[in-house]
Amino acid sequence: MKTVILEREALYEQAAGQIAGILTEKPDAVIAMSAGRTMLPLWQKLRQLDLEAVRLFQVAEFIGTEEHLTMRAMTEKNLLEGSNLRPENCFWLTEENYQEYENAIADVGGLDLAVLGIGDNAHIGFNEPATQFDSRTHRQKLTEKTRKQYGWHFGSEESTPAWGLSMGIRTITEARKIMLLACGEEKAQAVFDMLYARNDSIIPAAFLQIPAEVTVYADREAGAKL
Ligand code: GLP
Repeated sequence: MKTVILEREALYEQAAGQIAGILTEKPDAVIAMSAGRTMLPLWQKLRQLDLEAVRLFQVAEFIGTEEHLTMRAMTEKNLLEGSNLRPENCFWLTEENYQEYENAIADVGGLDLAVLGIGDNAHIGFNEPATQFDSRTHRQKLTEKTRKQYGWHFGSEESTPAWGLSMGIRTITEARKIMLLACGEEKAQAVFDMLYARNDSIIPAAFLQIPAEVTVYADREAGAKL
């Protein structure tokens, strides 16, 4: 795992630069994209790139929420709008299609890149603690901590959905390259555990110690315990 710790602005600049490099080599790269607050400044930079041929797969989604509150809506509003990403090249996770998701990824040749954030409890996607390494795209019951984390988006922990859909750990770790972004002091323990905990299912992000090409981008606050 490569770790980059920088001031926030420089961090996003460098992460976007890595993606630009991947797109220079392969303009139609297949990218697994997370949503969430951490992604917003990155998306702002990605919108400047030529994304016309990019194939985008959503990493995780909430179940049973109003359409405008979905991760899909967040991604459409903040990444697709103002970019040249083509809606027909975007694959969204739904309760109807999640069992076919792995086939859809395989059909386009697998993931070139997975862009991840990290939960306060070190989840990746919605792979909560106790998710198996071998997991594929699945329905996931969300933990109290995750529902609390998303209170800002839904108004409160209680109004945050109890279930989500997520690419599995196996799906994510099969990506040819992985980058994970973490910002803010509330992520500091999760970042520390990701790098130093045993890679068992208690700390899902620690499974990222296994694949070869993983870069962790942390701002000074998220990297404070390293
Ligand atoms: C969520 C999402 C992840 C996201 C992470 C961090 O639960 N499923 O895709 O990366 O938590 O979210 P945020 O960036 O809002 O802190």
